[in-house]
Amino acid sequence: MSEEQHKAENRARPTTDEFRAFVAADWAPRSTARPAQAEAAPYAAQRRAAVSAAFPGERLVIPAGGLKVRSNDCDYIFRPHSAFAHLTGLGSDREPDAVLVLEPLDDGSHESILYFRPLAGRDSEEFFGDSRYGEFWVGARPGLADIEAELALSARHIDEFTDAVGKDVGAIRIRIVRDADRELTASVDAVRAGVAETDEPSESEALREADEELAHFLSTLRLVKDEWEIRQMRDAIRATANGFDAVIADLPKALERGRGERWVEGVFGLHARHQGNGVGYDSICASGDHANTLHWIKNTGDITDGDLLLLDAGVEVDSLFTADVTRTLPVNGRFSDAQRRVYDAVYAAQEAGLAAVKPGAKFSDVHDAAIRVIAEHLHAWGLLPEGVDVETTLDKEHGQHHRRWMVHGTSHHLGLDVHDCALARREEYMGAELTPGMILTVEPGLYFKADDLLVPQELRGIGVRIEDDVLVTQDGCENLSAALPRTSTDVEAWIARLAPKP
Ligand code: GLY
Ligand code: MN
Ligand code: MN
Repeated sequence: MSEEQHKAENRARPTTDEFRAFVAADWAPRSTARPAQAEAAPYAAQRRAAVSAAFPGERLVIPAGGLKVRSNDCDYIFRPHSAFAHLTGLGSDREPDAVLVLEPLDDGSHESILYFRPLAGRDSEEFFGDSRYGEFWVGARPGLADIEAELALSARHIDEFTDAVGKDVGAIRIRIVRDADRELTASVDAVRAGVAETDEPSESEALREADEELAHFLSTLRLVKDEWEIRQMRDAIRATANGFDAVIADLPKALERGRGERWVEGVFGLHARHQGNGVGYDSICASGDHANTLHWIKNTGDITDGDLLLLDAGVEVDSLFTADVTRTLPVNGRFSDAQRRVYDAVYAAQEAGLAAVKPGAKFSDVHDAAIRVIAEHLHAWGLLPEGVDVETTLDKEHGQHHRRWMVHGTSHHLGLDVHDCALARREEYMGAELTPGMILTVEPGLYFKADDLLVPQELRGIGVRIEDDVLVTQDGCENLSAALPRTSTDVEAWIARLAPKP
C-alpha cells in the first residue's frame, strides 16, 4: 500500500449500500440554466486561431495542470498554467486536471476541445466521498454543457482524453506543453513512443524540441496584449493602488505593533484577496536593510521609525493578470537627506527609463537609459573605483562596477506571469523593438547594504526601488500605475494625507 493510500485509509469510514442510497436521494434538481459566455471567450478564440495557423495538421495538448499538495491531504488553491489560462480564458481556481486539445481538421484549422472533470452525479462515490474533488468537500463544478456555453468550445469528459490523444498516433504529430502536468506529459510521451506508460517523461530529444517550439510560441503569443488583456491589467493596477493606500493608512499600526513587515504583507494581502484573486507574487515588504535583499519575501522584520519601507507588491485579478509595483516609503513621513539623495537618483533613472519606452526603441534601451543615470550618480558620489568613469562602468565587457549597487535588470514583460513571456528568445525580448500593446515594468533601484564598506556611512542600509507598469502606445507609453505618487515630495504628501501624524 502506498503511503498516500495508507494515510487515506487511516481515516476512511466504511459505507453501506443503504447509506449510499440515502445520500444520493432527495436533492432538488440541478439547475439547467447555462452560464453566459465569458467576456474572455472571443479573445481566447482569436489566440487559439493564431496557434492553429502556426501548427497546421498537428494535435496540440495544453494541460491546465493538477492540484498540488501543500501537506498531507491539503492542497494549494489551484492555479491553472498560464498558457492554458491564455487559450481558454479560465482563471483562478478553474478546472484542475483539464486539458485543452487543438484537434486538427481536414480544412487545416483545428477544433478546440476541453477535456475536463465535469460535475459527478449524486449517485457517485465522488459526490460525498472524495475530499479532493467531491461536491460535498470542495463544491460543485460545471458540467460539459456549462463549459461549452461559457467558453464557446467543445467539451468532453477527461476520461476520453487518453483514447483521443492516441488516435492515429503514427500519422499525426502531437505536441504538449510539458511543464504544466508531469504525469499527463509522461502518459502522452508513452502514447507517442507507442509504449506502456512510464513514470518519467520521455528523454526523446526530437519530441522535446517539438514541444519546446510549442511552449515558445505560446509564450511569445503574449508579448503584445489585446484590449481585453489591457483592461485586466488596468483593473489589477487600480486594485494595487488601493492596496498601497491601505498599507500607508496602516503604517502607524505596523510600527506600533512590532513585526511590522508581516503586518504590511497582511494588509496588502487582504486588499489583494478582496479586490482580486490575491497577490500575483509573494509581496516584498522590506524595511531598512532588508530592502537590499532583492527578493526579501520572508517579511519577518520590524519596521522602525526612520526606516524606508520598500513595498513591491501586485494584485492578481480573477483572470490571473497581475500588476507589479514598487514604492519606497519613509515610514515616518519624511525622507532623511541621505534617503532623499538616493531616492531622487533612482527617480531620475526611472524618468530616463520611462522616456525610452516608445515604439521602435529596443527593449534593452529602457535599461540602458536608466542605468546610465544610475552610473552617473554613482560616479558623481565617488563610489566607482579610481579610474572607472561612467563610460567604463557601462562597458558591458570590461566594466559593470555599478552592478554592485543595482544588479537586476530595469524591465520585464508583465501579464499573466509577473515575469511574462519568459520563453521568448533574447532577440525577441531584450533585442526586440517595443510595439504598441506591450506591457512592461520600469524599475531601477539602488541598494546600499548595511555592511558595504565602499559606501559612506550615511548611505549604508538604504535600499530604494521605484517600479511602474507601462503600456507601449502608438507614440510613446502610458504609465498605467501613474496614480501612485512617485516623486519624493509627492510620496511624502501621500503619506501625510493617508497616515497623518497625531
Ligand atoms: N516583483 C518582482 C519584480 O519586480 O520583478
Ligand atoms: Mn518587476
Ligand atoms: Mn516588483
